[in-house]
Amino acid sequence: MAASGLGRSVGRLLGSLSWRSGQPLRLLRGLSAPAAAAAQPGSYQAQSSQAAREPAAFWGPLARDTLVWDTPYHTVWDCDFSSGKIGWFLGGQLNVSVNCLDQHVRKSPENIALIWERDEPGTEVRITYRELLETTCRLANMLKRHGICRGDRVAIYMPVSPLAVTAMLACARIGAVHTVVFAGFSAESLAGRINDAKCKVVITFNQGLRGGRVVELKKIVDEAVKHCPTIQHVLVAHRTDNKVHMGHLDIPLEQLVFDYRPGDVFGCVADIGWITGHSYVVYGPLCNGATTVLFESTPVYPDAGRYWETVQRLKINQFYGAPTAVRLLLKYGDSWVKKYDRSSLRTLGSVGEPINQEAWEWLHKVVGDCRCTLVDTWWQTETGGICIAPRPSEEGAEILPGMAMRPFYGIVPVLMDEKGNIVEGGNVSGALCLSQAWPGMARTIYGDHQRFMEAYFKPYPGYYFTGDGAYRTEGGYYQITGRMDDVINISGHRLGTAEIEDAMASHPAVPETAVIGYPHDIKGEAAFAFIVLKNNAGDPDLVVKELRSAVANKIAKYAVPDQILVVKRLPKTRSGKVMRRLLRKIITGRAQDLGDTTTLEDPHVITEILNAYQKYK
Ligand code: PRX
Repeated sequence: MAASGLGRSVGRLLGSLSWRSGQPLRLLRGLSAPAAAAAQPGSYQAQSSQAAREPAAFWGPLARDTLVWDTPYHTVWDCDFSSGKIGWFLGGQLNVSVNCLDQHVRKSPENIALIWERDEPGTEVRITYRELLETTCRLANMLKRHGICRGDRVAIYMPVSPLAVTAMLACARIGAVHTVVFAGFSAESLAGRINDAKCKVVITFNQGLRGGRVVELKKIVDEAVKHCPTIQHVLVAHRTDNKVHMGHLDIPLEQLVFDYRPGDVFGCVADIGWITGHSYVVYGPLCNGATTVLFESTPVYPDAGRYWETVQRLKINQFYGAPTAVRLLLKYGDSWVKKYDRSSLRTLGSVGEPINQEAWEWLHKVVGDCRCTLVDTWWQTETGGICIAPRPSEEGAEILPGMAMRPFYGIVPVLMDEKGNIVEGGNVSGALCLSQAWPGMARTIYGDHQRFMEAYFKPYPGYYFTGDGAYRTEGGYYQITGRMDDVINISGHRLGTAEIEDAMASHPAVPETAVIGYPHDIKGEAAFAFIVLKNNAGDPDLVVKELRSAVANKIAKYAVPDQILVVKRLPKTRSGKVMRRLLRKIITGRAQDLGDTTTLEDPHVITEILNAYQKYK
């Protein structure tokens, strides 16, 4: 412990002693010797001489009563300067971060722990004990996840800031040893200290601010760690808005997919009756102390500008929604978006289905002004949270349209062929499985564990089967191609119905489509397309003709749907997913047996489609 730290601790102990004895602490410096000798029991003089004469009797009760011990000590004092033996509180165990935080959070969580007087005058920040404990635990967990164990060394290269304090306490919490390196030191000095201590991790900021000047902390760390073979990771937080280069060692400290930062307004427009609402409207944002938006309305009420007007008014920083709404809105035109100020937006997220190229481009260019990061996030109710996503905070990391791309921490995707063999390499497709457990995953199906096993673990023994198909690029990125059930085999050609939908969605008069496979005597299977037309679409026959040639040009002739039916709406769940199961039943003559339709947003849509289908036949 640094000398000043020891001084502070002793001060605290003495402070509480004087409180316990009911007397104010009086500084007796300057008293003459006779006056001191005459001091009363309980006075500074008396206590001081007891501490010198009987260290165990003095320090023992003090430590016992003022600190929180996990294991009580059995011996207060065992020291001998002649042999260099210095032993205090033998057998005792405590955690200094628990002593600094938890005990106060229990009593008065909203008391201010830190007042951060920042470089910019008048912008001070106050952090409560509760907030400090939360961030400390989070960082401690993150350190553990990245392999930091008791006794490991961590370098903290950060200027005076709440996060630097958090980093110290997080290390203390997990028993790691921190070495706080003055953030004015050069790369060489930093490297020397890292190497002396054989640190495994450095925690730093992208940049620092001192006296109005920017200090390039991350660049200095980059330079230093080139000469530090023990460093496994560099954890990087943001002190300024400027992005810095992130390399293979670097891990951003802020939330990882959405680039969430304290104070942001997180706008996930999903219904809470859907998993996205659970994880990204309620539990995720609230656990992280974020401000979360509850969106009760629809994207087109009172008009097609509703989302963007809400973004402007609530100053939303992250907007997270489903491709189905994007496809709908883009057909209304750009003016509904451009009318509103979207400068608060930093990250746009898409979830729930494959996002087609056109919708991705529109979200990126029109809504995000080519400025916001767009993340296509893949996951499922069963996975609890995002599993594959581009991870935008990695500056410089490419993001490709319509691709979830990179597995999140702990997610190990595997592609399987039809025989259940692992498909290796790049430029390959297969059934998407996950080969390792991760904390957020489902444990069972309530009351039916057998069904859980059969659905997820039986198809590919030893692996969790997602039910989705995926393509892996040469670079190792993943693109979800849709549900495996939605793969059809036309005359020996296997393709996802989403591919045909994507080709048709590029037609300006067609906001939505759903393609279903159905049995065909000659081809084995054929495609049936349901399409929705815009109000001013013109001649439907002409549009259908244009759609056929669009599919032939973009994919191949064999992929052109045999049947194309114009409907007013598609049958969708409240979360915006098209219930293809119902469409399949309608066209295969099983409309009497539709099963559970309670999740439909509007059950009348079924009668509408049945009527259109009867006329079409
Ligand atoms: O097929 C995948 C699709 O949605 C399925 C999961 O649906 P659900 O459990 O309702 O959860 C929705 C919210 C996560 C997946 O099996 N899906 C989800 N996200 C994507 C996706 N398909 C393609 N790209 C995505 N980003």
